Amino acid sequence: MNIKEILDAVQAFEIQSAHDLESFRIQFLGSKGQIKDLYGALKNVPNEDKKSVGQQINQLRQIAEDKFASFKLTFSDKNSDEDQLDLTRPSSDTLIGSHHPLSLVRKEIIEIFNRIGYVVSEGPEIEDDWHNFSALNFPPEHPARDMQDTFFVEKGENEMALRTHTSSVQVRVMENSTPPIRTISPGRVYRNEAISARAHCFFHQIEGLYIDKNVSFADLKQTLMFFAKELFGEKATIRLRPSYFPFTEPSAEVDVSCTLCNAKGCNVCKYSGWLEILGCGMVDPNVLEACGIDSNVYSGFAFGMGVERIAQLKYRVTDLRLYSENDLRFLKQFTPGN
Ligand code: PHE
Repeated sequence: MNIKEILDAVQAFEIQSAHDLESFRIQFLGSKGQIKDLYGALKNVPNEDKKSVGQQINQLRQIAEDKFASFKLTFSDKNSDEDQLDLTRPSSDTLIGSHHPLSLVRKEIIEIFNRIGYVVSEGPEIEDDWHNFSALNFPPEHPARDMQDTFFVEKGENEMALRTHTSSVQVRVMENSTPPIRTISPGRVYRNEAISARAHCFFHQIEGLYIDKNVSFADLKQTLMFFAKELFGEKATIRLRPSYFPFTEPSAEVDVSCTLCNAKGCNVCKYSGWLEILGCGMVDPNVLEACGIDSNVYSGFAFGMGVERIAQLKYRVTDLRLYSENDLRFLKQFTPGN
């Protein structure tokens, strides 16, 4: 057996288990192992070569011992006496995750409204017809109740729906408290839509509600103006376009000046200089009455926005599906303050 052959065998030996490791030790390093035999055979080597051959065997033994030691760490029995827990060993790196972009934006929006006295309210995602539609002044034949928009579910005897907006939470708040009311309702909502880059069957909303004596449309405009400047920067301006919602009258859709191109026109704002961000209006007296609030004494406004939409504008996300695919390459890019 020559040294070179044993060296090759040491290097080629595959160690994939503790059992392999023990075979390796016996074959090469054990008291009857091949390296021991080499030392034994040294006495037959001519004197003038003894020194260099001895060095070669030492090198070989070192290589075999190093290989053994590195695999021993991998396969060592954690409970054995010789491998005690070493409390002084540095710990392995801990992976610190990052925040989901929707969580970051939701938090930022909530904080802005907290600063002007709005408190967060939450409610169930599976709702009855009353809270999602009827109390909100949806006529019985309104298309939003249609199977195409709403996911209906059976719950015992009752037909329930996955809420299509978080206005349902505001109905609950109005039913259970007396004005003044200042609340925002963040949460997940569901609509029966085909999934594409621009639509999803679930998304997140933050809706706001303010009810008190003498609340006017001017209060609504100022509140939204404050919000837009806090979120998009001092230069942001808003415009309101007339719109329709069953639960508000008058109703409006709100655009914010495109902060990406300073309202000069770009492909995100489709060269209009404006981005649509939310719907709003004065709460319809029918809604107040349905929730037990005297509409002769109180008035109020409501608004609602999609968190995905705002995040899209802040982070220029072009495909809605990215938010729910859990691709780490996408998620890792978001850190608070970005
Ligand atoms: N609930 C509406 C929607 O989901 C948004 C909205 C809320 C509009 C409050 C006006 C007032 O689209």
